[in-house]
Amino acid sequence: MTLQEEIDKRRTFAIISHPDAGKTTLTEKLLLYGGSIREAGAVKSNKIDRSATSDFMEIERQRGISVATSVMSFEYGGKIINILDTPGHKDFAEDTYRTLTAVDSVILVVDSVKGVEEQTERLMEVCRMRDTPVIVFVNKLDREGRLPLDLMDELEEKLNIRVRPLTWPVNRGDRFKGVFNLVEQNLYLFRPGKSTVEEERVLIQGLDDPTLEAQVGSEDAQVLREDVELVEGAYGDFDHQAYLEGRVAPVFFGSALNNFGVRELLETFLSISPLPQGRETDQRRVEAEESDFSGFVFKIHANLDPRHRDRIAFLRVCSGVFERNTFVRHVRLGKNLRFSNPYSFMASRKNVVDQAFPGDVVGLYDRGDLKIGDTLTAGEQFMYQGIPSFSPEVFRELTNLDPMKSKQLEKGIRQLTEEGLAQLFIQDQGRRKIVGTVGSLQFDVIQYRLLNEYGASCRFDPLNFARACWITSEDPGALRAFMEFRGSQIALDRDENPVYFAESEWQLNYLRSDNPKIEFHLTSEFK
Ligand code: G4P
Repeated sequence: MTLQEEIDKRRTFAIISHPDAGKTTLTEKLLLYGGSIREAGAVKSNKIDRSATSDFMEIERQRGISVATSVMSFEYGGKIINILDTPGHKDFAEDTYRTLTAVDSVILVVDSVKGVEEQTERLMEVCRMRDTPVIVFVNKLDREGRLPLDLMDELEEKLNIRVRPLTWPVNRGDRFKGVFNLVEQNLYLFRPGKSTVEEERVLIQGLDDPTLEAQVGSEDAQVLREDVELVEGAYGDFDHQAYLEGRVAPVFFGSALNNFGVRELLETFLSISPLPQGRETDQRRVEAEESDFSGFVFKIHANLDPRHRDRIAFLRVCSGVFERNTFVRHVRLGKNLRFSNPYSFMASRKNVVDQAFPGDVVGLYDRGDLKIGDTLTAGEQFMYQGIPSFSPEVFRELTNLDPMKSKQLEKGIRQLTEEGLAQLFIQDQGRRKIVGTVGSLQFDVIQYRLLNEYGASCRFDPLNFARACWITSEDPGALRAFMEFRGSQIALDRDENPVYFAESEWQLNYLRSDNPKIEFHLTSEFK
């Protein structure tokens, strides 16, 4: 097969949602179609329960699950589908944001009862940063949810994107009858409680099908005809190009739990979603079809076996062919590496892969060479862009409690922050360490892992900061003066870029207007 054919076969995407909207359930149903699992219940949620925060063994167990399920690959309809899993818990949102840099499109699950929730909006903002194409799946139609037209308005308003329904529900809750496929003009009737792939479905062809009334009742048939006319009139034709450019989001309705509306979603997804795309680097744009291999690391996970210090780096292949046992260039370190046991996440195949193609994710065993954001190439010197660090929102100062173990603590905190669990900022040439995260749960995890994996005990003391902003200026003198004047609130990030800690949103706005020559950035992606 040619490289182009391999690329054409692949689709790499993430399913995202506010916790509890049905991401895990939908993932499981998609895997059922791919035949990777035989029955429902095989995919474990990687949700971390609030109540389990103090139970560190639980965190460890959850971590184990999230390694196993963080990439799931399967074949369906002649395509290789790579689903990248993202943690739903908001304290791990940064991990989700980074994973979104490694996909070509997204399926966003929305609960029809709750509508657009807080985390949905934030995730959507991240998709919009790089115009990632989005398909919306409105889930839980078997519940008494909102009116579909109201939901459409809410999606457009809160997610700031145009929508285009491609299916339309017939009633909801107890009276949910099915979804009408607006493209194929047919209706599948809903039969609750089916969780296998081979469900029996009654099909009605077109709105003029004489059995429509008998199947859904004359009232629902009437409403459906009116709705369809309204939808076709109000939303116009589906613009595929606008979807690919992230300007319009097709919408599907269904019930993941009942495996309803999922097949329509999957099949339409395969026909409209983007192929593995090229990406920007600091030198030039690299296209997937280029023959030379390149890729980047978007996630690092500690090996669960505490006797081994090796970690697993998740590499997204962006161009060319990745080959096992062949030297590749580690651009940041300027050295050549080769991997003898790269593995794939194909449930039905043996794990070690000899080759991987654009769109694929391979797991690489790493002994400490790789960091999130690292680029591997066939030799050319360039770095992939757009693996941002986001402004943390919770800050604590790290204090070493065991002076005999300060080396272990240094090493541990460095490695854990390289995994992306938190961000490390230093002041006073490293004498003062400030750890920033998007949620407080990470501090428990860090403390636990420092002790168990590195033998280092530490304490975290809360700091009264609300935001960390990367600061730049076209005027080096102005930047220097600002840094000197605000010394106690300035630190350096892992790449020695200066960062300002703001105490509140209000203070940040005040500083912005008071220091017009200084630019304050809430992500590190400002180059
Ligand atoms: P998440 O990964 O987005 O957090 O959501 P998850 O799939 O775990 O689903 C959250 C809850 O919503 C689960 O119930 C799940 O069974 C339920 N759910 C998912 N899809 C549907 C649907 O189409 N209709 C209805 N009525 N419920 C749905 P749970 O009680 O929290 O967990 P479980 O004990 O059922 O696993």
